[in-house]
Amino acid sequence: MIATITGAPIVYANSQAIIDAFKLANLQSGQTVIDLGCGNAKSLIIAAKKFGAKGIGVERSPYAYLNSVLRIWWYGESQNITMIYGNFEKVEKFLPKCDLVYMYLWDRVVKNLEPWLYDHIGPKTHIVSLAFQFAQHKPKKSAQTTNLGFKHWIYLYSR
Ligand SMILES: C[S@@+](CC[C@H](N)C(=O)[O-])C[C@H]1O[C@@H](n2cnc3c(N)ncnc32)[C@H](O)[C@@H]1O
Repeated sequence: MIATITGAPIVYANSQAIIDAFKLANLQSGQTVIDLGCGNAKSLIIAAKKFGAKGIGVERSPYAYLNSVLRIWWYGESQNITMIYGNFEKVEKFLPKCDLVYMYLWDRVVKNLEPWLYDHIGPKTHIVSLAFQFAQHKPKKSAQTTNLGFKHWIYLYSR
């Protein structure tokens, strides 16, 4: 209902699919991961709790944003995870220095984001996309996972 009002359909990835994505990206303790459209911040909470990473989440749905802030506080990760309300562009300044960009979006959205991401990520930044591929770049690695009862590919990109 809220997703219909805000125009932002909200589907969350399974924890295991997120873990598989971070394993494919070899996410390390102390690294920073950005979730573009972080939903309920599950990925960032997993990144902090299981991988010891720092997180930055951006979310345009007011419901999902507030839910993320509450969940991050509930899980005691407010020191490690920064939430930003608004569109993807709001994290542009963080892209050059972040280690990993994680995305679980839609085919058209991922393809639209591709040029912007490659314009702003740093030389060592990796991008991991659950289920959807870029149009112009080939993945460096890929792996299969199960998400929401379906087999999905996870794609890992870098410069
Ligand atoms: C499929 S959900 C994925 C949620 C979470 N990243 C996960 O892996 O479970 C996509 C999320 O992206 C958000 N989103 C879509 N377009 C956005 C935009 N332009 N700026 C910020 N967030 C956006 C939606 O509101 C939704 O919460």
